[in-house]
Amino acid sequence: MESKYFIRTFGCQMNKHDSELISGTLSSNGFFETNKIEDADIIIFNTCSVREKAEDRVFKQLDILKKMKKNNPEKIIGISGCIPQRCPEDIMMRAPHVNLIFGPGYIYELPYMIKELKNGEPIVVKVGFKGGQKLETDIENRKRVREFSAWIAIMRGCDNYCSYCIVPYVRGREWSRSAKDILKEARKLVDEGVIEFTLLGQNVNSYRDGDFDFPELLRNVNNIPGLERIRFVTSHPKDFSEKLVDVIADCEKVCEHINLPVQSGSDRILKMMNRKYSTGDYLSKVEYLKKKVPDVSITTDMIVGFPGEEEKDFNGTLDLIRKVEYDGIFGFVYSPRPGTKAEELNDDVPHEIKIERLQKLIQLQRTYSLRNNEKMLGRSVEVLIEKRSKKDPKMICGRTRTNKVVNFKGDLSLRGKLLNVKITDFGPNSLIGVLED
Ligand code: SAH
Ligand code: SF4
Ligand code: F3S
Repeated sequence: MESKYFIRTFGCQMNKHDSELISGTLSSNGFFETNKIEDADIIIFNTCSVREKAEDRVFKQLDILKKMKKNNPEKIIGISGCIPQRCPEDIMMRAPHVNLIFGPGYIYELPYMIKELKNGEPIVVKVGFKGGQKLETDIENRKRVREFSAWIAIMRGCDNYCSYCIVPYVRGREWSRSAKDILKEARKLVDEGVIEFTLLGQNVNSYRDGDFDFPELLRNVNNIPGLERIRFVTSHPKDFSEKLVDVIADCEKVCEHINLPVQSGSDRILKMMNRKYSTGDYLSKVEYLKKKVPDVSITTDMIVGFPGEEEKDFNGTLDLIRKVEYDGIFGFVYSPRPGTKAEELNDDVPHEIKIERLQKLIQLQRTYSLRNNEKMLGRSVEVLIEKRSKKDPKMICGRTRTNKVVNFKGDLSLRGKLLNVKITDFGPNSLIGVLED
């Protein structure tokens, strides 16, 4: 009998990409994907561990599957990604109906694990860092969700050990794929019709294959004929070099959008976070970037309520926002993660203060988002058309090179096309326009 699988993804773009590898592995081994969870024989939640809330969301949704498993005991309920890497025992305690637990290093063993379960094994658990978790074969087994836009993992893991962060523990040591492999995968994807890449890594700026570094890699990817746009996430400010900015300015396919997570605008807190730069270092990098790449869009990640964060530290964060004038901020409330250095500190900022600070941050950022978007009024911008608009089903939407969402009237048959749109209206998070002939 044919087996159907269903995957739900939580977390970052690396996890979304890993879900493509999971689904590619299953589909090439005779399993069929379904988007109806109730029809699936195999349900996999690919999970995130970065904040406690992210984990809670997963366990809540897993709870709902309890009944399904009871009515249908041969169903395989799987959990993959970062939660299994952190606490496989917790999963067994909190969700005893889960019978398949595996980390990102074991994606390619899925068909064997499923076989073991079908042969009567009550539970299969494979976590840890097998062979350094080298997913060299990204290229062979993937089932892409988007035809014209693709993720490419160029590196995996993280060695930075920011004091609050679980990622180095769940994703292991930093490891770069070979440039030869990445370029081979990139060319193949362009042959398949992909026009936009997002290069992925926890810290793409520290990519290295011998003497071949990230700016070199960007130059080489930029030379692939047929490719239109190159994006990358995420950049750690400590490794965000002038050489890289020069390459961004030089390479016409590299898009004018950088997510440069600063986390805090207080030097004292940055030190406690082990970020290895000061606000001064950060601001001079931003200045160089703005000088070299006109109209660049800059976004950031911010954490509020880190242990010991005082009003004056938070004011530093607000000041930094005023200086950079970001296009957008992903703001988070600090969440202590088990086993990290910051967990040993006293989580002393009361929850209400954390929420209040986050709201203040969002409010301030809104003025800059609006201001930056207002500058787009009347301009004609290139948009890669993606999907039906969330705002209005009669509209479609896409992204500018600066990663801003533009909604406009048009037909979904334009999906995957690059077209010029004139901006006629704006909000803090998106733009409205009209298609140009
Ligand atoms: N590798 C990326 C980010 C990975 S996690 C980078 O270094 O930029 C994404 C974001 O989650 C981080 O930038 C940080 O802002 C936030 N984050 C990570 N750990 C957190 C924690 N314990 N509490 C709150 N936010 C956290
Ligand atoms: Fe986490 Fe820091 Fe690594 Fe980013 S660079 S994944 S925040 S440890
Ligand atoms: Fe979450 Fe793991 Fe990504 S913890 S942010 S899914 S690397």
